[in-house]
Amino acid sequence: MILGIGTDIVEIQRVRKVISDAFLRKVLSKEEIEKTLSMSEERKAQFTAGRFAAKEAIIKALSDVELPEMSDLNIVNNEKGKPEISYKNYKISVSISHEKEYAIGFAILEGDEDE
Ligand SMILES: CC(C)(COP(=O)(O)OP(=O)(O)OC[C@H]1O[C@@H](n2cnc3c(N)ncnc32)[C@H](O)[C@@H]1OP(=O)(O)O)[C@@H](O)C(=O)NCCC(=O)NCCS
Repeated sequence: MILGIGTDIVEIQRVRKVISDAFLRKVLSKEEIEKTLSMSEERKAQFTAGRFAAKEAIIKALSDVELPEMSDLNIVNNEKGKPEISYKNYKISVSISHEKEYAIGFAILEGDEDE
């Protein structure tokens, strides 16, 4: 059953303005930071905004059970590009989209009622 849902929208320009190594370390996992190293500045802002929105969404979906740090959430794109999150034993589905100005994230937490 669905135990929680979350969504978040981020203005990419706001991320562009504050992007720094410290900001990336706060928002991204080590693996995600590695991924940004080969990105253009524009793609880095888009990617980070998408990850930020997705992680806020995950945190909202998990809010009844716990409050993870964003950098502890490692979102990996599978071979088809689909984002996947593995965090503890939780079953979480996540989706990301971005347009020119905004990025959006959506997450669903599933499990048994007694979890
Ligand atoms: C993949 C696809 C869903 C992306 O949609 P889009 O409108 O171009 O781009 P959006 O901004 O809405 O979404 C981009 C995000 O979608 C997610 N995404 C990419 N591929 C995905 C997939 N197969 N399934 C679910 N989500 C996917 C990623 O999180 C990506 O953001 P990120 O790279 O920063 O993590 C779209 O191109 C599509 O429907 N393609 C058809 C399937 C396809 O050709 N797959 C190619 C790999 S086989």
